[in-house]
Amino acid sequence: MRSFIHALPKVELHVHLVGSASADTVLELARRHPEAGVPTDRAELERFYTFRDFDHFLKVYWAVQSMLKDRHDIHTLVVGLAGELARQNVRYAEVTVTPYNHFLDGVSGDEVLAGLESGRAAAAALGVELAWCFDIPGEKGLVAARETLAFALNERPEGLVSFGLGGPETGVGRAQFAPFFAAAREAGLHCVPHAGETTGPETIWSALRDLKAERIGHGTSCVDDPALLAHLALKGIPLEVCPTSNVRTRQVASIEAHPVRRMLEAGVVVTVNTDDPPFFGASLEGEYLAVASALDLSHADVARLAENAVLASFLPNPRKTSLLEEISTVLAAVR
Ligand code: ADE
Ligand code: ZN
Repeated sequence: MRSFIHALPKVELHVHLVGSASADTVLELARRHPEAGVPTDRAELERFYTFRDFDHFLKVYWAVQSMLKDRHDIHTLVVGLAGELARQNVRYAEVTVTPYNHFLDGVSGDEVLAGLESGRAAAAALGVELAWCFDIPGEKGLVAARETLAFALNERPEGLVSFGLGGPETGVGRAQFAPFFAAAREAGLHCVPHAGETTGPETIWSALRDLKAERIGHGTSCVDDPALLAHLALKGIPLEVCPTSNVRTRQVASIEAHPVRRMLEAGVVVTVNTDDPPFFGASLEGEYLAVASALDLSHADVARLAENAVLASFLPNPRKTSLLEEISTVLAAVR
């Protein structure tokens, strides 16, 4: 199963750029920016980096964020992610970037764009196509929403495909962001908010109703509402499920207890993703393997997960078709 999963051409739909920094990347940034106070010694860095609990995860996340000072740092981050994706035979990824957080750290829009663009070109040379989702850090409110939207629409960088909403959900209602999502949609961007990661099904309903979400980031709590499960299945709204992330942040007790089984049984389009991979000790291949083992999936079931990600992506149709053909070929070879 491991080699089969490797052989499948894969698509990643939910990974945060800052959350994708590997220990190697963080070490490189820490040595470039010793004033940030992040360990520059490998063993010490690995200890700092090892997941303990959610508060510590946030501490490490913000430490990485604080070391991104210019285009060079952002380039380093993008290339590090692309290398990880290439090693796992991931061909295409929609990567979430939170421009407003970089602005708060004093990084200009031009620096962000330059780092993303040069990183994207380097990724293409590794055989990985990157697309961007610019997301609102919801906890920073309507100012963040306004700035994120303005940046997305004014700059419209190559590869920008979608508009998102992340950060904590508790106390951060989705509906307040409706006008921003409407404008993004009007401008041709796809809408992919987080919803139902840490709060209940009503947040997912709101993401669908108020933001016209085309996919849901996480959507874990949809299984608590049979009508919502049925709606997601009927409308073919894909979920970006991130199993290990959900276990690490204690939203679910274990991969075995993850509601992904009930989502699949209800006929929901499930895609498997990583969220903040090195922070959670996750990889896309590892997520496929974990779900396959926990649910005792067949090769055909696993291939279906890979197909779902292709179909749920914002790739142009000819690229989808060729990836789907490749998946069929890989599946046929094990039969
Ligand atoms: N940003 C980075 N990781 C996140 C997560 N798990 N949920 C919401 N926003 C995030
Ligand atoms: Zn996320």
